[in-house]
Amino acid sequence: MRRMRVGVIGIGFIGAAHIEALRRLGYVDVVAVAHKSGGEKKAGEQFVPKGYDDYRDMIDREELDAVHICTPNNLHFEMAMYAMEKGLSVMLEKPFTMTVEEAKTLCAYAKEHQIVTGVNHSLRMNPQVQQMKAMVQSGEIGEVFAVTGGYLQDWLFLESDWSWRLDPEISGNTRAFSDIGTHWIDMVEDITGLRAVEVLAEFGLLHKTRKKPLKSVETFSGMALRPEDYADTPVKTEDWCSILFRFENGAIGNMNVSQVTAGRKNQQIISISGSKCALHWDSEDSQELWVGRREMFNQKAPKDPSVLSDKAKAVIGYPGGHVEGFPDTFKAQFEKFYQAVLEGDTAQRDFANFEDGLREMVLCEKVYESAQKRAWVKI
Ligand SMILES: NC(=O)c1ccc[n+]([C@@H]2O[C@H](COP(=O)([O-])OP(=O)(O)OC[C@H]3O[C@@H](n4cnc5c(N)ncnc54)[C@H](O)[C@@H]3O)[C@@H](O)[C@H]2O)c1
Repeated sequence: MRRMRVGVIGIGFIGAAHIEALRRLGYVDVVAVAHKSGGEKKAGEQFVPKGYDDYRDMIDREELDAVHICTPNNLHFEMAMYAMEKGLSVMLEKPFTMTVEEAKTLCAYAKEHQIVTGVNHSLRMNPQVQQMKAMVQSGEIGEVFAVTGGYLQDWLFLESDWSWRLDPEISGNTRAFSDIGTHWIDMVEDITGLRAVEVLAEFGLLHKTRKKPLKSVETFSGMALRPEDYADTPVKTEDWCSILFRFENGAIGNMNVSQVTAGRKNQQIISISGSKCALHWDSEDSQELWVGRREMFNQKAPKDPSVLSDKAKAVIGYPGGHVEGFPDTFKAQFEKFYQAVLEGDTAQRDFANFEDGLREMVLCEKVYESAQKRAWVKI
């Protein structure tokens, strides 16, 4: 098998996770990183041979097969376009772009030039998410008539919590929805094969102003804030949202998304009600899938390749009883992506690609529109 030469752009939280997962594939070499003002230092920290300050220099000089773009949202478009113009395959972080227009432009370019693309909705690759998909597709669930759940975190709970995600110029018009709610609806549409056709969204704010640090956030680690260290800054995007969806078959969806729910670090819940049985999956108990039945006892399916579907088996790396989680979904997704790169196959597969990225941006736009109008909006 040909070895892949890959560059990663933006080495923050998720860039480092990409590098770790890529190394686990065995045939993908992360040969360089690009990081704004400090590429060489980041390369050293990640044990990568080369580091660049400007991503264009890395792409121009390194003869790469693919890039992974792991920078803040407002940079995704220009970076993906530059990489595609140089003929590279692109794995891009979500949310895909800032606008639907940008998303359409990237999709059209990728399609015209037959470029293999991916968007990092890796949570699809959780074995129990794949198991739910297999059970819906096989007809075991019957007709899906309701999907409930959501995505809760607490990392913006305090007034002093700050991130570039709070700035709409960098992050986009929606925050909680685009940052994490998009994962939920991406998983739900992928599992059920149903598209949401209408949406009603309500946004909420816990903090109308936040204490924006005037120095780098790391500077404050372990220190109490002093008034001269921050500026009270109005917040324009939602901390929290509740959304109703109507799906194409008439089913109802209901999700809650929050970045300010104390104690919830990273909880996704998907509950599917079908005409034959029900499914419930909670990422805080991610190894098990609950199957609810009326005519007999309920079941809990363990993450065990010897009892789950072929779809689930395909993303499981370890035997039953050996816990797998967030980083393993990256490995499973990148495995599928690089198989497509090696085969030059641009067809839609079961990992998210730029078409799914466009879908994500349409949903962001419609959710935002609905919350502004406080009314149902057609998608
Ligand atoms: N798929 C997931 O589960 C997941 C999880 C977290 C973040 N994300 C997405 O990943 C992206 C990055 O998020 P993060 O949490 O890693 O943020 P982060 O702030 O931790 O890291 C982003 C890094 O990009 C660097 N950067 C900024 N401009 C750059 C430039 N011009 N060239 C090179 N590097 C540059 C920053 O210095 C920073 O270190 C966002 O789009 C976010 O939504 C996805």
